[in-house]
Amino acid sequence: MSIATIKTVAFQGVDVLDVDVQVQMASGMPAFAIVGLPDKAVAESRERVRASLHALGISLPAKRITINLAPADLSKEGSHYDLPIALGVLAVMNALPAEDIANYIALGELSLDASIRAINGVLPAAMHAAEKNKGLIIPKACGAEAAWAGDIDILAPKNLLQLINHIKGTQVLVKPEAKLKDDRAHTGPDLSEVKGQETAKRALEIAAAGGHNMLMIGPPGSGKSMLASCLPSILPQLSPKEALEVSMIHSLAGSLPEGGLLSRRPFRDPHHSASQPSLIGGGNKAKPGEISLAHNGILFLDEFPEFQRSTLEALRQPLETGSVLVSRVNYHVNYPARFQLIAAMNPCRCGYMGDPEMECTKAPRCGGDYQSKISGPMFDRIDVVVDVPAVQVSDLQTDTPAQSSKSVAQRVLRARQIQSQRYANLGAQYEVNAYANGKILETVAPMDGEAKAFMAQATDKMKLSARAYHRVLRLARTIADLEANASVAAQELTKKHIAEALSYRRTSTRG
Ligand SMILES: Nc1ncnc2c1ncn2[C@@H]1O[C@H](COP(=O)(O)OP(=O)(O)O)[C@@H](O)[C@H]1O
Ligand SMILES: [Mg+2]
Repeated sequence: MSIATIKTVAFQGVDVLDVDVQVQMASGMPAFAIVGLPDKAVAESRERVRASLHALGISLPAKRITINLAPADLSKEGSHYDLPIALGVLAVMNALPAEDIANYIALGELSLDASIRAINGVLPAAMHAAEKNKGLIIPKACGAEAAWAGDIDILAPKNLLQLINHIKGTQVLVKPEAKLKDDRAHTGPDLSEVKGQETAKRALEIAAAGGHNMLMIGPPGSGKSMLASCLPSILPQLSPKEALEVSMIHSLAGSLPEGGLLSRRPFRDPHHSASQPSLIGGGNKAKPGEISLAHNGILFLDEFPEFQRSTLEALRQPLETGSVLVSRVNYHVNYPARFQLIAAMNPCRCGYMGDPEMECTKAPRCGGDYQSKISGPMFDRIDVVVDVPAVQVSDLQTDTPAQSSKSVAQRVLRARQIQSQRYANLGAQYEVNAYANGKILETVAPMDGEAKAFMAQATDKMKLSARAYHRVLRLARTIADLEANASVAAQELTKKHIAEALSYRRTSTRG
């Protein structure tokens, strides 16, 4: 045979596209060329394939070998083309019966000794193979991950020799099995370890229940970071559908813990010195950023004003749409990025504004300067703003046990069930109050007479914008859902709900 075709895939965002590796061997000057918009890693594939075959005792014939990655106008990135290229070369050399692997999609990186190394993106590739009714040839290290795609034929060899022997029937590869869920317990602190801070804890519970973005403002050492790291312990686990979505993104980024799907909500806390591509996505390699790794979970931005301004502004679009568009040289990719933003900041640069004994001489002007690093539109996307004052000694020394994460998690779960039922009934695409807007918000958050009058008064006095007005309504809805039992989930909002919601508005500066 002088032409062989092996199937593989290319990744574009979370989309998986079919690619054919066509290998032609012809007489002429000995050469080994790869065409079809390969990037550097793909071009170097040549050397790895040559070395791997050499390790098997096969040397390339003195012929002209051309490899075309079709479709030719799609850029090919990554090292997973090694394996299909090697299989194609073996097939044109008649070292491997091509028809036996015609129904497989192959991905894998080769080492110089012909072993097959783990690659990113196996889970989405496996889902794609299942959809197309194809088998899959992948590195052994990725077998457990691929097995989540269901009942497909998976060959997961450790090295090229094992694969050849399997195809020739002299050795049988065991089918990989899906590993049990990665159910590692929450490693952060428990809410009961946070002393005092009752207002902040209450705000955290509300934010968790309704999926609201939240900002904590307080002096250093008051427990802001601690409170944020408690959040995963009070959120419900991922639903199977969410778990798959999240795991696909982590698979593409290569951060899926060996073989297991993620079942806990992601909690990402990038440092403020992180670059924009690492946060938002893209850069040299098209990779999902922190905001996509936080999809269906939490993005915690500590020391909020210290992040680059342009980075913070770039968060606005994903916060609105739940996805992010990353530009590549000649195309765009879209990554899901529906995350809950939890931010923390000191009230000013020195950190002690408002504390008569500790504040510096520049207060309160320095606070205004510091807080103005967060733009108005950014503040507009944060439903809950809460002050976290320094902890009182009496709170630190108290013996009365605080509420545990477990009991709070139960209330959060019930409130979330009420919400998902509500939005499913309305045919909305989301499951929490945080996303309710416009007409749907008006339907789901009716007020009784007293609440209406109170709200009118507050709007006038506090000069609430229309957007702020809706923000208060959304939050009040969540507060009501937290106290409701399922049968009265459609209850009207009362003055009490509205008043509490209003208390989580930004008070320190303009807003
Ligand atoms: N409310 C609190 N209850 C118990 N310990 C606290 C509290 N606040 C702070 N701490 C202690 O101080 C440390 C620093 O708190 P941290 O959350 O990092 O403060 P912040 O982020 O507000 O500067 C915590 O690891 C914890 O040991
Ligand atoms: Mg901190």
